[in-house]
Amino acid sequence: MFLSVVSLIRPNMAPLPLKNLLLCTTIFAFLALALLSQAELDVHHYDHTCPQLEKIIKDTVLNASQHDPKVPARILRMFFHDCFIRGCDASVLLDSTPTSKAEKDGPPNISVRSFYVIDEAKAKLEKACPHIVSCADILAIAARDVVTLSGGPSWEVLKGRKDGRVSKASDTRNLPPPTSNVSQLIQSFASRGLDVKDLVTLSGGHTLGFSHCSSFEARLRNFNLLHDVDPSLDSKFAQDLKQKCPEKPSFRGHNAGHFLDSTASAFDNDYYKRLLAGKGLFISDQAIVGDYRTRWIVEAFAKDQSLFFNEFIASMLKLGNVGVLSHNGEVRRDCRVVN
Ligand code: HEM
Ligand SMILES: *[C@@H]1O[C@H](CO)[C@@H](O)[C@H](O)[C@H]1NC(C)=O
Ligand SMILES: *[C@@H]1O[C@H](CO)[C@@H](O)[C@H](O)[C@H]1NC(C)=O
Ligand SMILES: *[C@@H]1O[C@H](CO)[C@@H](O)[C@H](O)[C@H]1NC(C)=O
Repeated sequence: MFLSVVSLIRPNMAPLPLKNLLLCTTIFAFLALALLSQAELDVHHYDHTCPQLEKIIKDTVLNASQHDPKVPARILRMFFHDCFIRGCDASVLLDSTPTSKAEKDGPPNISVRSFYVIDEAKAKLEKACPHIVSCADILAIAARDVVTLSGGPSWEVLKGRKDGRVSKASDTRNLPPPTSNVSQLIQSFASRGLDVKDLVTLSGGHTLGFSHCSSFEARLRNFNLLHDVDPSLDSKFAQDLKQKCPEKPSFRGHNAGHFLDSTASAFDNDYYKRLLAGKGLFISDQAIVGDYRTRWIVEAFAKDQSLFFNEFIASMLKLGNVGVLSHNGEVRRDCRVVN
C-alpha cells in the first residue's frame, strides 16, 4: 500500500492506469482520515465499555433482515439521511414532539422506515451496557452490517459519535432531490466535505432497494418541450416503468414503484452497469454517466467490482465522519427521544 503511494509521487513515473489512481486517492483518503479522526472517532471506542456491541447489533440486523428483506436498503438509506442532515448524530431517529416536527416526518419521508431495528438493538445494548453506546454509532454499525450481509464488503466502523438533541422536518429540504443534475450533486456533497469520487461511489448505495413512482415519474411523461420521455432513459426500460406507474392514480397501488437495480437485494456493481445502459432510475442516477467529471468513475466501477467495494469502504468512512458530535452531544437512552 505504501509503495504505491511512493510511486505516485516519484517524479519520473509512468502514467498510472485508472485503477491505481483511484486506489492511491483512497489510500490518501485513509491516511487523511486516520489523522483527522484521531481525536474523535476510533475503532476501539467501546473495547472496554461494551465489547459485545458489534455482535449484538449484527445479530439484530441479521434477524430483522431475514424476517423482512426490505430492511437492509432502509437502514443504508437511513444512515445517508442521518449524516446529510446535521451530521451523523442520529437526528433521523428522533420522533416528532408536540412542539416540533422531526426529520422523519419531513417532506421526502417515503421509505425511510424500519426504525424498529435500531430500537431493538438499542434495547439490547441498554441491558448489556447501560447508557454507553450512542444511537449514531448503532446506525453507523448497522449500515455497515446491512452492506456486508447483502454481499458487499466489510470494514471496521469508527465509533465515538454522540447523539444530537435537534431534529427538524424543515431540514430535509437540504437533501439532494432525485431531479438533481451533476453540478447540484457535486455541490451538495462538497458542502459536507465529500468529493466527486465519494458522490459516484456512494450513489452505488442504489444497488439496494426500491423507489416509489413519485421519485422518477417526471421522466416518463411530458418530460420537456422536445421529449415526452427523458431521452437518457433506455426506451424499453421506460416502457416498463410506465407500466409500473400508470398515469391514473386509481390504477396504481399505494406502493407502486420500481427497484433501483435488477439485483435489488444484492450489493454489487450492477447499478453502474445499468447506468451505462440507460437504466438508472432517477435523473440524479443517470446524470452521473452524462458528465465527463463522473462518467470515468462509473465506467471503472462497472468494470471492476472490487475497485467499487474498496472505494465504497473509503467513502462510507468519510460519510460517517460528516458533522460528528464528539462533545456537545449525549448518549440517548431511547433513540426516539432526547434524554
Ligand atoms: C446522490 C444523491 C441521492 C439522491 C438524489 C437519492 C435519492 C433517493 C430517492 C428519491 C430514493 C427513493 C425514495 C422512494 O421513492 O421511496 C432513494 C432510495 C434509496 N437510497 Fe438514495 N439518494 C441519494 C444518495 C444515496 C446514498 C449516498 C445512499 C447510501 C449510501 C442511498 C441509499 C438509498 C437506498 C438504499 C435506497 C432504497 C431505500 C428503500 O428501498 O427503502 N442514496 N434515494
Ligand atoms: C427477530 O425478528 C423478529 C421480527 O422482527 C422479531 O419478532 C423477533 O423478536 C426477533 N428475534 C430476536 C432474537 O431478536
Ligand atoms: C410522512 O410525513 C407525513 C407528513 O408529515 C406524515 O403524515 C406521515 O405519517 C409520514 N410518513 C411516514 C411513513 O413516516
Ligand atoms: C443544474 O441545475 C441548475 C439549477 O437548476 C442550473 O442552474 C445549472 O445550469 C444546471 N447545470 C448543468 C450542468 O446542467
